[in-house]
Amino acid sequence: MKTTSVLAASAAVTCLALPALAEPQAEVLHWWTSGGEAKSVAVLQEEFAERGGSWTDMPVAGGGGDAAMTALRARVLSGNAPTAVQLKGPAIQEWYEEGVLADISDVAEEQGWADVLPEQLAAHMKCDGSWCAAPVNVHRVNWMWGNAEILEANGIEMPTTWEEFNAAAEKLQEAGITPLAHGGQAWQDATIFETVVLGMGADFYQQALVELDPEALGSDTMVQVFDQMRTIRGYVDDNFSGRDWNLATAMVMNGEAAFQIMGDWAKGEFLAAGKVPGEDFTCAATPGDGFLYNVDSFAMFDVGGDEDKVAGQNLLAELIVGPSFQETFNLNKGSIPVRSDVSLDAFDMCAHVSAEDMAADAEAGTLLPSYAHGMALRGEPAGAITDVVTAHFNSEMSSDEAVEMLVDAVANAM
Ligand code: BGC
Repeated sequence: MKTTSVLAASAAVTCLALPALAEPQAEVLHWWTSGGEAKSVAVLQEEFAERGGSWTDMPVAGGGGDAAMTALRARVLSGNAPTAVQLKGPAIQEWYEEGVLADISDVAEEQGWADVLPEQLAAHMKCDGSWCAAPVNVHRVNWMWGNAEILEANGIEMPTTWEEFNAAAEKLQEAGITPLAHGGQAWQDATIFETVVLGMGADFYQQALVELDPEALGSDTMVQVFDQMRTIRGYVDDNFSGRDWNLATAMVMNGEAAFQIMGDWAKGEFLAAGKVPGEDFTCAATPGDGFLYNVDSFAMFDVGGDEDKVAGQNLLAELIVGPSFQETFNLNKGSIPVRSDVSLDAFDMCAHVSAEDMAADAEAGTLLPSYAHGMALRGEPAGAITDVVTAHFNSEMSSDEAVEMLVDAVANAM
């Protein structure tokens, strides 16, 4: 008895001698600046503040995150990396190889991430076997959005093949309606391109945009992909160049265009504007089988042992994968929770379609990483492909020329 109380007393003294608890701090770099995105990231800011965290916001506008990644490189090069960064796909491993990422395995293990995250998606969050990123959601990229009123008025159903899409687009054009709302930015061209590739078959997508198989890249099928891209180019309005993706979504919302091909962050915009799926707008997978996933995640950068920042990183990681954030954030963002144990009761019909298709595609082996959103490839080959896609879309280049260029560009980037 006596020994126990002596031990207890000395433990108490040790506790008292410990330094004051760290105050969680985080400077967070992200590119969530549109209406729906800002609403979503605010959920994380609020949860962080409720748990005593102090958040310094570093938003870098620009859909798809190209500008944010440029800003990140500048910060890391100047030896002043942000605490937490929206980062995804192989870019996580690329930064890990630079030796600048923090290991968040302690949080991941304590919170049991391995039990609640699908293995294929969890693999993107690992660096040499340890956890180096916290996943936020699952966005599906291969979605087509439609203005329900326009489609109904013109007797058009959501197309299930590209031929049907082309027929619908021509009908709309005859009626004086812009068929496709598009923003001419390289990543948006790439977003459409990958859905067209997927439409040629999930195997073809896998060979061409995941494995970078030169035969698939140089195939007749790829010629057909560029043919369809040229056709699609004819369905956008004259002012498409440089337009932000959310302004393209607004065109569908406001009846200025019938369709948009975009990941389900577009749904976040519709919802933020009070639009109702099935009533005001429609959602359907782009033609073809398969599910192109885009998992947003945050990586923590090495902060040299700064206790407040480390506490901030740990708290952020815990909150991001926590069930309450996963539900509220994704309700706003348009995506679905990446955790498999979050109820979808509060989610809309598009989210249900997404979750059901994801399960079926995982089973069928057609759950595939998006190349356009940095999930499938490292930066160099991905950039090389996008350069060709956007050069073709914005010129009179023939499909044969584009295919030739594609094969060369990929070969040079490997
Ligand atoms: C991100 C989304 C974001 C979208 C538009 C995608 O690459 O994964 O979270 O909403 O870009 O900025």
